[in-house]
Amino acid sequence: MTGFEIRPLAAGEERAAFELLGRTLHVTVTDELWTRRAASFPAERRFGAFTGGAPVGVAGSFATRLAVPGGKALPAAVDGVGVRADHTRRGILTALMAAQLADCARRGDVLAVLHASEATIYGRFGYGMSSRSQNLRVTRAAFRADAPPGGTVRLLGTAEAQELVPRLYAEMGLHRAGMIERPEVWWSYARDRLIGEHQVAVHTGPHGDDGFVLYRTEDLRTFDQPNLGAALTVRDLHATGAAALAGLWRFLARVDLVSEVRAPGRPLDDPLPAMLTDPRACAVTGVDDQLWLRLLDVPAALAARAWGPGEPVVIEVTDPQLPANTGRYRITSGGAEPTTAAADLRTGPETLAMLYLGDRVPSALAAAGRLDVVNPAALAHADSLFATRVPPWCGTPF
Ligand SMILES: CC(C)(COP(=O)(O)OP(=O)(O)OC[C@H]1O[C@@H](n2cnc3c(N)ncnc32)[C@H](O)[C@@H]1OP(=O)(O)O)[C@@H](O)C(=O)NCCC(=O)NCCS
Repeated sequence: MTGFEIRPLAAGEERAAFELLGRTLHVTVTDELWTRRAASFPAERRFGAFTGGAPVGVAGSFATRLAVPGGKALPAAVDGVGVRADHTRRGILTALMAAQLADCARRGDVLAVLHASEATIYGRFGYGMSSRSQNLRVTRAAFRADAPPGGTVRLLGTAEAQELVPRLYAEMGLHRAGMIERPEVWWSYARDRLIGEHQVAVHTGPHGDDGFVLYRTEDLRTFDQPNLGAALTVRDLHATGAAALAGLWRFLARVDLVSEVRAPGRPLDDPLPAMLTDPRACAVTGVDDQLWLRLLDVPAALAARAWGPGEPVVIEVTDPQLPANTGRYRITSGGAEPTTAAADLRTGPETLAMLYLGDRVPSALAAAGRLDVVNPAALAHADSLFATRVPPWCGTPF
């Protein structure tokens, strides 16, 4: 131990840890904020780094399930970490991560995910960038005649929004790889979004409510540009099918006195640009990494996902932090299991995570030097096995 102690957070230490985390993320924790967020910050599943009895670092997770290719949902831990500014770069995060990954694995979590504040931090802990999203800016949107017409859209009051949106998200199900269940502990942190922070609209199709959007508007008008109108920013948009998605986009594009719609964090295959008469009316202003994934139980994770067609491939994984994962795995179109056969490809947990949800194919990462190719003939088969029909997307901020 080098000047700090790592241990589970005890009951009664939640607020101090929450304040610490807030400070690392430049958020001021007032009494009022703590009252609203306390239920989302239990001591359970949280580790602290302490010096002289005071927390100087915290790592926590909540339990959820994450959809993997093929439709199964696996137990997953969703993480957040912070280290006090005067205690960084002395190994506290590293020690917290070691404690947390071992704890999650012990609890039976198969996967762990986080959103990375900086992309250089988490690879060393076996996390890999496993899904990406795009930021869209929509101006002057006119829809093509063949774009789905959609159903009806209605705005909700706060009481209805609080009841309907969590239920609707749950009913929609985890319909693409990367989506997570939103447990009550997540809603207790995110509920503010439904009570005043955002407008909430629900789409209704032939079979009932099938999509929702949370958005807010910001007045862009200035003395020099009095006709600029407002910017409408989409915070959370989920729909079960093409018609519902089109209906929600049409609604957003038609809100009066809005000069642009900003939609950060959309899936890479969002069909909006293809629905417009002028696809350039929807600009991609950036592509960001989204989920960072850690396979805690490699055999269970590989066994659970669906695989594409292709000849079997043996992949060897070396995982220094969670050595139970180290081994060779034979992947076939019918499943994956441990093997003693010779390896075709070798890699570590970070690269395996980048492949796991289907965001990348092995040949692309081999070209980047991230996979050791023992048998070049296996690479095309591995591409086919790992490839997925749609790109992964989480769509739940945490
Ligand atoms: C990111 C953070 C948790 C790192 O904590 P830390 O205790 O300084 O990390 P460690 O000392 O264990 O560093 C581990 C390694 O990661 C590197 N690292 C840590 N933070 C880094 C950063 N922001 N950028 C680049 N490298 C970083 C360290 O240099 C070290 O590398 P080394 O092993 O090669 O020496 C801390 O800086 C922090 O709280 N930042 C603000 C809040 C935040 O970003 N939280 C993360 C939300 S996802």
